[in-house]
Amino acid sequence: MTALKARVVEVVHETADAHSLVLEPAEGDRGRFTYRPGQFLTVRVPAEGGWAARCYSLCSSPLTDDRLKVTVKRVAGGLGSNWICDNVTAGDVLEVLRPAGTFTPPSLDEDLLLVAGGSGITPVMSILKSCLAGGSAKVALLYANRDERSVIFADELRELTERYPDRLTVLHLLESVQGLPTAAAVRSLAGPYSGRAAYVCGPEIFMDLVSETLAALGARVHVERFFSLEGDPFEEPDAPEEQAEDGDAGEIEVEMDGETRTVPWPKSERLLDALLRAGVDAPFSCREGSCSACACVALEGEVTLDANTVLDEQDLADGLILACQARPVTDRLKITYDG
Ligand code: FES
Repeated sequence: MTALKARVVEVVHETADAHSLVLEPAEGDRGRFTYRPGQFLTVRVPAEGGWAARCYSLCSSPLTDDRLKVTVKRVAGGLGSNWICDNVTAGDVLEVLRPAGTFTPPSLDEDLLLVAGGSGITPVMSILKSCLAGGSAKVALLYANRDERSVIFADELRELTERYPDRLTVLHLLESVQGLPTAAAVRSLAGPYSGRAAYVCGPEIFMDLVSETLAALGARVHVERFFSLEGDPFEEPDAPEEQAEDGDAGEIEVEMDGETRTVPWPKSERLLDALLRAGVDAPFSCREGSCSACACVALEGEVTLDANTVLDEQDLADGLILACQARPVTDRLKITYDG
C-alpha cells in the first residue's frame, strides 16, 4: 500500500486565511516520512462522489522540527484548501503520500536567494530554516505580500533574523506600501543577490515576473509550481494486461535511502509502476508528468518519457527522469533517489 496515515496534532491559525497542520506519522509509517527541505505532501481530500488529491509544501525543517507541518491558504473555490481550513481539526487522520519534490537545494552551504509570494513562503521556509540550522549558507529572502496582516511566519522570521543577523536578510515587499510587484522592484531588492542560486515560489504570475527578471540578471532560477491533480493518485494502478514474457523483461537497479536492489522491468510497464509492483517505496504524486514528485536520476541506461511538463532542459541534461512517465529504451537501467 502506497498511502500513509498522519494524525493532525495541532491546527495553527497563521493568518485569517492560512492554517498550518502539525502532523504526526502513524506508528509504523514514521520511516517513510523522511523528507528534504522544500518537499511537499500529497493529501487525499473528499470530492463530489469520490476523492481527489492536493499537494501542500512542508514548511517544517527535517533538521529542526520533530513534527511535519504543512501550511494551507484558502483559495477562492479551492476544493482542498477550503475543505482543510473548514473541516480539519486536531485528532483527524489524513491519508497522504510520502514527501516528494525536487524544489530542494543540493547543499545547505551554498548561499541562496529565496523569493516567496504569499503562501509560497511554505517550502521556502523549510529551506531557509534548514540552511541556517544545518549549513553555513547565507540566505536572502524577498517576501511579497498583500499587506502586513497577510505575512505568514512574520514572528518566526523576525526571531531568525535576530538569531542569524550575519546570515539572514529578509526583504519585505508589501503591495499596500510599495504597490504590486514590478520587475524594477525585484531588480532593485533581489539584484544584489542574483549571483546566488534562486528558489522561487508563489502565484504563477509572480513567479513568471521574478523568474524572468532574475534570469535576465544571470541567476539560475528554480521554481515550484502547483496545480490541481486530475486523477486520484491514491488509487492503485491496474495490473498490466501483458505480463512479462521471455525477452520482455529488463531490469532496474535502484538506489534509495542508502540501499540498492534490482527489480524486473516488463517493457509494457512504466518505471514507477514496475517499482511499486516490486515493493520499492518510490515517491510520486500526480502520475501525469506534471509535478516532479517521482523524479530520480538515471545513472546508466536510457528511457523515453511519455509526458513531461515539469523538467527543463537543464534537469534532463543532469540525468533527471520522471519515473511515472519513463519507458525503457535499454534493457537495463540504473537509477538513484539519493543525492
Ligand atoms: S508523479 Fe508527478 S511527475 Fe511523476
